Amino acid sequence: MKHFISTKDLTTNEMFTILEQAEQYRRHHPKFQHQLFAANLFFEASTRTKMSFLVAEKKLGMETLDLQMESSSVTKGESLYDTAKTCESIGANLLVIRHQVDDWYQDLVERLPVPIINAGAGKGEHPTQCMLDLLTIYQEYGYFNGLKVVIVGDIKHSRVARSNAQALHTLGATVFFAAAPGFEDTTLEFPYITIDEAVEKCDVLMLLRIQHERHDGGQYESESYHEKYGLTIEREQKMQDHAIILHPAPVNRGVEIASELVECNRSRIFKQMNNGVYIRMAIITTLLKEWGMYDDNLTKKRNTPNGIK
Ligand code: NCD
Repeated sequence: MKHFISTKDLTTNEMFTILEQAEQYRRHHPKFQHQLFAANLFFEASTRTKMSFLVAEKKLGMETLDLQMESSSVTKGESLYDTAKTCESIGANLLVIRHQVDDWYQDLVERLPVPIINAGAGKGEHPTQCMLDLLTIYQEYGYFNGLKVVIVGDIKHSRVARSNAQALHTLGATVFFAAAPGFEDTTLEFPYITIDEAVEKCDVLMLLRIQHERHDGGQYESESYHEKYGLTIEREQKMQDHAIILHPAPVNRGVEIASELVECNRSRIFKQMNNGVYIRMAIITTLLKEWGMYDDNLTKKRNTPNGIK
C-alpha cells in the first residue's frame, strides 16, 4: 500500500492488520529515532481528524508541518498539486490532505514521491474515519460478518457513508441506509429502510450530520428533521440492548441525534475519536514502512525516494 486513499483499495487482510496494529499501539508504540516530517494540508475545516493526526504524528516522534490556509499561497491561487509538491520539496516525508474535490488525489498519487493519506475528499471518501469506525465496531463485537449496520442521514453528500458502506460490505457486514427524501444516493447499491426499522434492526447505528456545506440545505427545519428522521429519545429506547451508536461528529445536537443521547451508555462517539489517534498511527507506520522510511526494529533509515533529499 503506497498511499491511503480509498477503502476500495483495501483487502480484508489489510484492514485487519491495521486494526490489530492500532490496538497494539494503544499499549505500546514506536517513536521514530530519525527526523521525519508530516505535512498536514487541510483545505476544509477539521477538528477531530486534524487534531488526531497531529497527536498520532507527535506520538510517533514526527515533526509536524501544519499549513495555515489563510496565510499560505493557496490564497494567491496556488494549486493543490503545487502546494503539495512544495511541501515535498522542502522535506515533507508524508502528506496528509483534506480537500473539497471528490477525487483530488488523482493528480497527486502518481506524481509525488511521498506517501499521501486522504483525510477527507469532498463527498467522495474518508478512509481513515472508516478505519476508526471499524475499530470501534470490532472492539464491541470482535467480528463483522453478519452484523447489521445502518448508516443514517445525508448519505448522498457523505464521504463517511461511502467509505464505511464499502469496507463493511467487504468485511461481511449487512449494510442498510436510512435517509430523508433527497438524501439517498442511488449510485450505492445498499437497501434503504426507515429510521424506525433501523433502530429495531441494527447492531450498529451510524448517524451522519446533514452536510449543509455540500448542498443548498434549507430543505429541513431542525426540529421536524429530528422528529421524522433523527434518533429521538423514544427511538433510542427501541434499540436492542447490545446495539451501539456511532457518529463521526461534529454532532448537531437535536437534529440527527437528541442531545441527551450524545453521551448515553450506547454511544461510542468519544471512543471513536480516541480510536482515531491509534488508527492513524497504524496507517502512518504502514505507509512509512512501505516506502522504506521506517522499519519495525527502529533501525535508522533516511527518506531518499528518487534521491531527492
Ligand atoms: C466528518 C467529515 O469531515 O467528513 N467528520 C470527521 O472527519 N470526523 C463528518 C462530517 O463533517 O459530518
